[in-house]
Amino acid sequence: MSLEELIESATELIVRSRHMIALTGAGVSAESGIPTFRGPNGLWRKFKPEELATPEAFRRNPRLVWEWYAWRIGLVLKATPNPAHYALAELEKLGILKCLITQNVDDLHERAGSRSVVHFHGEILFARCTSCGFRLKWSEPPSEIPPRCPKCGSLLRPDVVWFGEPIPEEALRRALHEASRADVILVVGTSGVVQPAGSIPYIVKEHGGTVIEVNVEESAITPVADVFLRGKAGEVLPKLVTAVKRKLGKRGKE
Ligand code: OAD
Ligand code: ZN
Repeated sequence: MSLEELIESATELIVRSRHMIALTGAGVSAESGIPTFRGPNGLWRKFKPEELATPEAFRRNPRLVWEWYAWRIGLVLKATPNPAHYALAELEKLGILKCLITQNVDDLHERAGSRSVVHFHGEILFARCTSCGFRLKWSEPPSEIPPRCPKCGSLLRPDVVWFGEPIPEEALRRALHEASRADVILVVGTSGVVQPAGSIPYIVKEHGGTVIEVNVEESAITPVADVFLRGKAGEVLPKLVTAVKRKLGKRGKE
């Protein structure tokens, strides 16, 4: 089937859905200039996760970890949402997309207008105190490295989930609840290899829902995808939204 025909099948599933959710990964922000983790130019090609993204790494060398995060905070602050983020926000405004679960730590979904966002892996623009829990938001990268808590002087840490750490309780609860009631999940730009996030589409499937995937290549989700749309999120998602709006318009007139 051609991409156009596949978009047509996905559109039919989407307009018929009663509770559609989405799962996004680094691929949706790639066209905004934020590097993905895996793949040819992925961060994990250049950097070692065990040196930068674990609680042990932070205990060993908070300065090194913070230097890496300060660089990434700068990238996020400079980036702007791309057509993929806007398309997802539009699906929510149309009343179709009920919840967006993202593994991304940037705030590009919110800046594009999405409201119902679950940050499964935390948010890079926030830091929290390792001793008193005080939380703050960066409007520019931290200048003092490693940064300290303005309340108690202890070390701050990025408010993200590191390898070996649990998913924030409320994010996990909401995501599992949404996955168990969704009849359609739109999965965009994730390799699907990091757990438990990668299980979310499988949970939807087990509950009888359908899986639509958008990715430039096959992923760990593709085996359960009912419709696989191969291409860049920033190109495929706007086409999908246009097709959905056209179909909704026709239905309105019927
Ligand atoms: P990955 O870097 O593992 O995967 C990115 C996916 O996006 C790949 O499947 C690419 O094929 C796809 N992709 C790249 N560019 C794309 C584009 N323009 N349009 C569509 N798809 C595109 O990123 P995640 O799956 O998000 O964890 O990684 C999951 C987690 O692993 C991250 O949240 C992070 C990382 O370690 C934590 O921070 C805890
Ligand atoms: Zn503190």
